This record gives sequence, structure tokens and C-alpha cells, in this order.
Amino acid sequence: MQRVLLGMATAMLLFTSAAQADVIADRKAMMKQKNGASIGVLVKTVKGEMDYDAAAVLAAFKTMREGTEGFDKLFPEDSKTGGDTTASPKIWEDMAGFKATLDKFHADLDEAIAAAPQDKAAFMPYFQKVAGDCQTCHETYRVKK
Ligand code: HEC
Repeated sequence: MQRVLLGMATAMLLFTSAAQADVIADRKAMMKQKNGASIGVLVKTVKGEMDYDAAAVLAAFKTMREGTEGFDKLFPEDSKTGGDTTASPKIWEDMAGFKATLDKFHADLDEAIAAAPQDKAAFMPYFQKVAGDCQTCHETYRVKK
């Protein structure tokens, strides 16, 4: 009986850490694949490494907006530490503030999408707002490794 219980406890422990690793991997993938990839297109546009492409810019804004829906749900209590994460403990201390920061990011993206800027001059103010949102959240809710 004791051995069975021990086996069950070990299995549960393994399950817990696997689930925790998954949620960390999920939120990192969301950032990397949706935000990281999209900001690359926008930065190239800003630097003039890419000709202004209104459709590509709009697609990047939409990928960020739709791709990060529910990002704040990927921070359960048990994913604070232990995994390979740069999420700051501040997220859990101030979940409301974290959500508000995500909401502002989404609101600025909604504005950018609605505006669908057709040239670089029109695009720049939206880029600055959105890039500022990345920076604000990272400075407040991420730890440097
Ligand atoms: C509401 C907060 C928030 C916003 C807004 C935000 N991020 Fe993040 N980002 C995070 C957090 C938290 C992490 C750390 C996740 C972890 O390691 O568990 C992260 C991690 C990342 C990573 C690293 C992923 C990895 O593989 O480790 C990249 C790249 C990234 N963000 C890009 C961006 C870009 C680009 C933007 C803006 C377009 C942005 N983020 C906006 C909170 C945010």
C-alpha cells in the first residue's frame, strides 16, 4: 500500500511539473511566434530594410493582437518559479496591473488595426505606441536573466 501511494505521489509530482513546464513553454511560444516575429517585420519597415507594405504591417498587428489573446491566463500560481522563465514575481503580486498592461497593448493594437496605415508616416505613431507597450510590460513584469 505504501509503495502504491508513493508511486502515485511520484506520478502526480511528475504530472505537475510537466504541466507547469507546458504553460511556461506555451506563453514563451506565444511571445516569440506572435510578437517576436511580427515586431521583426515592423522594425525592418522602420529601418527602411523593407519597403512600406500596408498589408504586411496590418497582418503583423493582427497576429500580435489575436495571437496574444489570453496571454494573462498562462500564469498559474505553480508556474512562478522552477521552470525556464523570465516572468517576474510581480505578475503574481499585481495580476490586475499585469492584465491592465496587456489590455493597453491590445487596445493600441486595435487602434492600429482600425487605422490600417497606408504609408510610413501614418504608421510610425502606431508603431511607437505598440513597441512602447512591449517595453513597458517587459521592464515591469520580466526579470533579466
Ligand atoms: C502584458 C505584458 C507583455 C507585453 C505587452 C509584451 N510582452 Fe513579451 N513577454 C512578457 C513576459 C511576462 C515574458 C516572459 C515569459 C516567460 O519567460 O515565462 C515575455 C517574453 C517575451 C519574449 C521571449 C520569449 C522566449 O522565448 O523566452 C519575446 C521575444 C517577447 N516577449 C517579445 C515581445 C514583443 C515584441 C512585444 C510587443 C510587440 C511583447 N513581447 C509584449 C510580457 C509581455
